[in-house]
Amino acid sequence: MKTVDKTLVNRYWSEDRKFQLIGKKKLLLLPWESPEVLVTMDLMNPEGSLTRSQTKKLLQVNHMLQLLRPTLDALTKQFPLVRIAEAAAGNSYVSLILAWYFKNIAKHPAMILSSDSNPKVVEQSNDRAKALGFSDILRTAVAPLHDFSWESLSQSLFPEHWPEEVKDPKKLRPNLFLALHACDSLSCRAIHHAMQLKADHLAIAPCCQAELAAQWKELDTKTNPLRVICENPNLRRSTAADFTDAIRLLLLRSLGYEGEAIEFVPSEHTPKNRLLLVERKRQFDLKSLRSYLDLKTSLPFGQIELERLTGKELEIYRERLDPI
Ligand SMILES: C[S@@+](CC[C@H](N)C(=O)[O-])C[C@H]1O[C@@H](n2cnc3c(N)ncnc32)[C@H](O)[C@@H]1O
Repeated sequence: MKTVDKTLVNRYWSEDRKFQLIGKKKLLLLPWESPEVLVTMDLMNPEGSLTRSQTKKLLQVNHMLQLLRPTLDALTKQFPLVRIAEAAAGNSYVSLILAWYFKNIAKHPAMILSSDSNPKVVEQSNDRAKALGFSDILRTAVAPLHDFSWESLSQSLFPEHWPEEVKDPKKLRPNLFLALHACDSLSCRAIHHAMQLKADHLAIAPCCQAELAAQWKELDTKTNPLRVICENPNLRRSTAADFTDAIRLLLLRSLGYEGEAIEFVPSEHTPKNRLLLVERKRQFDLKSLRSYLDLKTSLPFGQIELERLTGKELEIYRERLDPI
């Protein structure tokens, strides 16, 4: 791990440079205040300088933190120990930042169980957590999503937070479940998994949703009212991605979550900038189920993984809908 030279960092960050970086914005994670975490995550050079791409990433990470802050603060008030799961975490940037947040800003107990299918990134994330002194809060496991068991992983990774006798497993559920840029239908599977765990909040940043676009490509374009979109690869990709997220949001709402699709990072940084941020409020919502069914009636083209995964569950609630 790279070590920080604080004297050089302080010398580098003159008032002029600080102003150039943030202007009058208030960022939570600042290079001159928290150099260790940024250097360890390769988001800053050891003497304090930032490349263009590190600057971009630093602003993105801060934006993400601002978006999640109301959720984190609510969880801190509600739970003596905040339990967080991240799936398909890659380098665990967000988990590391959340660990930093709980240690330095919230100063509140938390356990963050991060996971990915790739052993290399998992090892790196554990090394980084160790180097930063975050291992008491953040531990990362090799776990492909189909094999991700919150219960057995938290039991083995955080035995200190797992009671000998579990009286009410619901109380040990994740309070926040994150999956950022899990490719294509992996986002659907992450959403479904989090819903099954009854996670209190979900933060899902979808990525390269090709599933619906591939089905639209095969449609008979003579009779299809969406033909201009289906025939044009660029429009097909972006419109299908919007529909995919609209369907995900309606299914989440139908099954009791409230929330919106919001901008995830400033749009000048990346086109993949949507975050579905939702909170579990009830068991189901018939109005949203009706909206979902209306959407499917007017545009009955294709199906996404989350529809297949939630199909049976929704069937029960469909029976409660008034006939039109
Ligand atoms: C595009 S990266 C996103 C990483 C990180 N969440 C981010 O936003 O920077 C997708 C990650 O998903 C992981 N992945 C791919 N298939 C997976 C699966 N079935 N289960 C869990 N993780 C998977 C990959 O190893 C990779 O780290």
